[in-house]
Amino acid sequence: MSPRINKAKELMPTVTELLQPVELDLETLLSDLRSLIGTKHPILQAASEHLFSAGGKRLRPGIVLLISRSLTPTGDLSSRHRRLAQITEMIHTASLVHDDVVDEAATRRGVDTVHSRFNHRVAVLAGDFLFAQASWHLANLDNLDVVKLLSRVIMDLADGEVKQGLSRYDSGQTLDTYLEKSYCKTASLIANSAQAAGVLSGESEIHLRSLYSFGKQLGLAFQVVDDILDFTSNEEQLGKPAASDLASGYLTAPAIYALMDNPSLGTLIEREFSKEGDVENALCIVRNSNAIPKTLKLAEDFAKQAEESIQWLPESEFRNALLALPKYVLSRLY
Ligand code: IPE
Ligand code: IPE
Ligand code: MG
Ligand code: MG
Ligand code: MG
Repeated sequence: MSPRINKAKELMPTVTELLQPVELDLETLLSDLRSLIGTKHPILQAASEHLFSAGGKRLRPGIVLLISRSLTPTGDLSSRHRRLAQITEMIHTASLVHDDVVDEAATRRGVDTVHSRFNHRVAVLAGDFLFAQASWHLANLDNLDVVKLLSRVIMDLADGEVKQGLSRYDSGQTLDTYLEKSYCKTASLIANSAQAAGVLSGESEIHLRSLYSFGKQLGLAFQVVDDILDFTSNEEQLGKPAASDLASGYLTAPAIYALMDNPSLGTLIEREFSKEGDVENALCIVRNSNAIPKTLKLAEDFAKQAEESIQWLPESEFRNALLALPKYVLSRLY
């Protein structure tokens, strides 16, 4: 690691430090999530609890809470804003439980995935259960605009996963199709929940659009960074498998860029890595090409746009935290 990057890393707050202004809200959120899940189905409760207590970064509810508080800097947080943050984390966790089944991943948040710890049937049901709970609590917010925003997210999540699943090993994919999928898989939830926080605060149309745009650009940066980390990091650091996207036939930005200059990578992908050493060769081609720096540039552009979208927020510690988030997302690469 270069001294410059080392210095940048030292200066960069961790996600816990960044979310400090809403730390108490996030603690309440975790206990509220536990009681929302209830005890009706002990096995599903245990499965959901397994992931909740492993502790994710809580980035998505953190964003909803920071936006909510920055729109009411002195007032108390409404119970609807809190509920929206809970729903956001519930949808996210449900999507992870199903994602890990589809991706055949053995670890998540540093612990066994739900299907490894329990079994596939429990994981499918636990994911469904969390999506269903989220939909119910969403409807009970009694705000049709918010219902539309968040139910769209659930559609997008399925759409993104289906498209990705159907285009495995397709070396003809473009950066545009990759970004559409990334929007559906990741950015849609952050964008629409950010906008929904604004809706609950009665914000103007123009402010709602900019909150949406903040979430969208930040979400795209986040997924692009996650896709770089799959090539450059390891399971210990990530708490989930690494070097697995390309091996599973998922072509993310680094692979798409590498394909542009390395036709031999296309050959390996098209034969679905059927010969010994194919996966290792393919990973080597991507890691040694200029694809990673190009992908980093893409993430930086999204992060910059995210930062620009919310300059209008009133001065507060919550605004400062939101403005620091895009750089935090990039700093995960250092
Ligand atoms: C993982 O999201 C899924 C992606 C969009 C890449 P996070 O990295 O935010 O997962 P947790 O919640 O912190 O575990
Ligand atoms: C993000 O994609 C998945 C969802 C948001 C459902 P990934 O498949 O890359 O997520 P990780 O890497 O397993 O966290
Ligand atoms: Mg996955
Ligand atoms: Mg996946
Ligand atoms: Mg990933």
